[in-house]
Formats: sequence, C-alpha cells, structure tokens
Amino acid sequence: MERTFLMVKPDGVQRGLIGRIVSRLEDKGFKLVAGKFVQVTEKQAKKHYAEHEGKDFFPNLVSFITSGPVFAMVWEGDNIIELSRIVIGKTNVTEAQPGTIRGDFACHTPRNLIHGSDSPASAEREIGNFFDSQEIVDYDKSMSRWS
Ligand code: GTP
Ligand code: MG
Repeated sequence: MERTFLMVKPDGVQRGLIGRIVSRLEDKGFKLVAGKFVQVTEKQAKKHYAEHEGKDFFPNLVSFITSGPVFAMVWEGDNIIELSRIVIGKTNVTEAQPGTIRGDFACHTPRNLIHGSDSPASAEREIGNFFDSQEIVDYDKSMSRWS
C-alpha cells in the first residue's frame, strides 16, 4: 500500500478549512495513518522544499510555510500519490478545476491550501521530515474492501 505526505498549509489552517480538506480525503476512500498540528521550522521548511532551492520564489515559499501552523498528515491508499494530487488539483489556481480542493477553495497561487508529495521518493523524504515511525499507525479499516 502506497503512502503520501499531505499537509494543510498555513492558509488552510487560518481559513478554518482543515476539517473540510480532511473530509474530502476521507470521502475519496484514503486512509489516514498519522496527523499532527505543527509549526514548521525554517530548517524543516528548507528540507521539505529542497527541490525548489535556488529558484527565485524559494525564500517566499519558506516564509509562507513557516508563517503559521500547518496540519501534517500521512495517508495511505493504492496509487495515492497520483490520486491525491488529482483530488488536490493543479498548482496554479487558474488551472485548478472545480471539484478539486484548490479549484473549489483557492484563488491565489502561492496560497493553494494543501501540499501533496509528487513521487515515492519525495513522499518518503517528506514523511521522514515530519514524522517518527512510531507516530504512523498501522491498522485495518473495516470498509477497506468496499472502497
Ligand atoms: P506543493 O504541493 O506545495 O509542493 O505544490 P505542487 O507540488 O503543486 O507545486 P510545486 O511543488 O511545483 O511548487 C511548490 C509550491 O511552490 C507551490 O504550491 C506554489 O505555492 C509555489 N510555486 C511553484 N511554482 C511557483 C512559481 O513559479 N512562482 C511562485 N511564486 N510560487 C511557485
Ligand atoms: Mg510539490
């Protein structure tokens, strides 16, 4: 079963959208295996966005993600990395379709509410940057064979 790192960004927290964002992920049938409310440190932010280091928007990215608490999560599901990015919607809000989280709730590109890992290697690095292995809970959901 594949795992991904999803995080409600500071704008989503400030706008009171944690519950609705988590609901959409639950509605889809994904399984939540870890979650916590955290203030991201600068060091953690730089590690999280390492792939963008050197780009002109990198300093803004780091200051945005550390600007307030986030809700960090690990979710599990078949093909969840690709599927969760479909549920999240395109990075650029002018391309994010209605029905996606960003398409329905976001209207400024850098403030696009939620992060999702873009590959298995990123997911592993990002999960390790936010969670210890004992914080991730292995359990069965009785509905799993129906979703
Ligand atoms: P994340 O889930 O946050 O990683 O978004 P993403 O995977 O859809 O996009 P990507 O990893 O390419 O970019 C990370 C974040 O950087 C985006 O969510 C944007 O907020 C921001 N970003 C990406 N490209 C640009 C850009 O060209 N200009 C600015 N200002 N911000 C950008
Ligand atoms: Mg990304």
